[in-house]
Amino acid sequence: MYSGDRTESTMTLHLTDAERLAELDLDQLEQLIGLVEYDSATDPFPVTGWDAVVWAVGNATQAAQFYQAVYGMELVAYSGPETGNRDHHAYVLESGAVRFVIKGAVDPASAIADHQRAHGDGVTDIALEVPDVDACIEHARRQGARILSEPHDESDEHGTVRMAAIAAYGDTRHTLVERRRYSGPYLPGYVARSGSLVRSADAPKRVFQALDHVVGNVELGRMDDWVEFYNRVMGFTNLAEFIGDDIATEYSALMSKVVASGNHRVKFPLNEPAPGKKKSQIDEYLEFYQGPGAQHLALATNDILAAVDQLRAAGVEFLDAPDSYYTDPELRERIGAVRVSIEELQSRGILVDRDEDGYLLQIFTKPIGDRPTVFFELIERHGSLGFGKGNFRALFEAIEREQATRGNL
Ligand SMILES: [Fe+2]
Repeated sequence: MYSGDRTESTMTLHLTDAERLAELDLDQLEQLIGLVEYDSATDPFPVTGWDAVVWAVGNATQAAQFYQAVYGMELVAYSGPETGNRDHHAYVLESGAVRFVIKGAVDPASAIADHQRAHGDGVTDIALEVPDVDACIEHARRQGARILSEPHDESDEHGTVRMAAIAAYGDTRHTLVERRRYSGPYLPGYVARSGSLVRSADAPKRVFQALDHVVGNVELGRMDDWVEFYNRVMGFTNLAEFIGDDIATEYSALMSKVVASGNHRVKFPLNEPAPGKKKSQIDEYLEFYQGPGAQHLALATNDILAAVDQLRAAGVEFLDAPDSYYTDPELRERIGAVRVSIEELQSRGILVDRDEDGYLLQIFTKPIGDRPTVFFELIERHGSLGFGKGNFRALFEAIEREQATRGNL
């Protein structure tokens, strides 16, 4: 556990409440998500970390059950007709420090139904916890951000939350949440609720512990605008940069840049399509999502083998890595020694990448909804702060085989 000598300066690394409740510690988080120390005094828009990923789906009641039964998440809070919310159901689910809020319309006129009609099941809000909502909004406004909701208090018997929201790519927003005066299960208007699911005695405590990154797909030619938005409006800095051949395949290509909050808890890779012989996976996403949106969420785990085994047993389908990926003599040279054998990885389709800081293990699910849009990544980091650059080609070739079976390549 972290002990206090750094608290006197602004070079602080603190656990968030969610991380503390999930019994994570700073060393684990450094490993899991690449958390770093930084000087928040020079940050015009300090971000503590993720607050929640809010989804609009076609059937929140069933999706909430799916995330509990399959992804091992715990139901912790609820809002819906029984609590006076006649517009929609909202189920708040947690796994480690990760919080999902799954919303589905009850009222046919609900804005959630409109979002789902336009985009399919998707992310409406990547909400961030900040220490000072008003300071962030003041800075964002000066930098020309579109303010969707002005700073305001919401209160109930558990205290007061200060919130505001700014527009991000497409119909995605960032709600900013200042919750240090609040002790309720999520937000005012929500009641504590636990699930009725009975887990087997040998089920692991959780499948994943933290959210590593959320990728946004934006239109051709707009990636740099959004990188600039996160730099200028939110004070994010640029991490790795992937352009051109690194991630081109014979048929399609994309460009990707990564921005991160000062402490690196929040990382946003941003993709745009690049010209290829055929339609790229980013183009396919933009067509079916009807515009920019969140493409994948990377869930950090400290045991990707167990996580993959559990998810596969529960019926989750992953992208297949081609056998040639594992038999490639260059692979062993490229990745060096990792904690498990290549055979263990191959039998599960787990990819490996290495950079100067270490290595990472990763795997991608197939799209989680009806449209070929949103999916999950599982990631186990061992020092590497990258995103699997070396795997992009192998991965995209696998994705393209899937795309071809849907007739969209
Ligand atoms: Fe990723």
